[in-house]
Amino acid sequence: MEGLRRSIGWPAAALVLTCAALVTMPTEVSAVRYIVGANMGWTSNVNYTIWAQGKHFYLGDWLFFVYDRNQMNVLEVNKTDYETCNSDHPLHNWTTGAGRDVVPLNVTRNYYFISGKGFCYGGMKVAIHVEKLPPPPSSLPEKSGSLGLLSTFKGQIFVPTLFAIAAVWDSFLYLW
Ligand SMILES: *[C@@H]1O[C@H](CO)[C@@H](O)[C@H](O)[C@H]1NC(C)=O
Ligand SMILES: *[C@@H]1O[C@H](CO)[C@@H](O)[C@H](O)[C@H]1NC(C)=O
Ligand SMILES: *[C@@H]1O[C@H](CO)[C@@H](O)[C@H](O)[C@H]1NC(C)=O
Ligand SMILES: *[C@@H]1O[C@H](CO)[C@@H](O)[C@H](O)[C@H]1NC(C)=O
Repeated sequence: MEGLRRSIGWPAAALVLTCAALVTMPTEVSAVRYIVGANMGWTSNVNYTIWAQGKHFYLGDWLFFVYDRNQMNVLEVNKTDYETCNSDHPLHNWTTGAGRDVVPLNVTRNYYFISGKGFCYGGMKVAIHVEKLPPPPSSLPEKSGSLGLLSTFKGQIFVPTLFAIAAVWDSFLYLW
């Protein structure tokens, strides 16, 4: 029994150290996944120009189209076809059939999406501009200072928690 406990104890310790290392790693600015139309989703009777207004779409962000798969679809078109609601030659057909389509915004340019099947004429169209990520806002020493503080703060919460979990797991094995 003691032999088993010891042999399990080492991987648990290794797990704790790995998690601790992940927690203290510098965090990247995370990409945003926008649900097109927010709680309305991708449907008729939503003004997507208003939805997109004031939003900043950055390289690496995502658009998430949620809609009725039996009625609408998601087609990427060029500017002319966006304006005229022409779905005859989409640049990209993002429709997968699930009514839940994800579009990675991985190029800095304008993107134009419409729904075919006549819905574009009712306003089911959205145009967005994807920009490069802005440079980090503040000076380097201040930034690394606040990040360092954040890591310490996280570490103070997560590392003891992980040790506690490992300890419970360890004693569980011991009892068992
Ligand atoms: C969009 O595509 C159509 C058809 O291929 C073409 O006639 C039109 O000039 C294109 N518009 C733009 C802005 O590229
Ligand atoms: C888009 O792709 C879907 C799924 O493959 C397909 O069912 C649909 O006919 C396509 N639509 C257009 C307009 O190409
Ligand atoms: C962007 O994503 C699309 C779809 O996944 C892919 O086809 C294309 O190659 C990507 N472009 C770049 C520049 O990564
Ligand atoms: C959406 O709202 C914008 C800004 O108020 C307006 O210019 C545009 O005509 C509206 N689009 C539709 C399809 O109603």
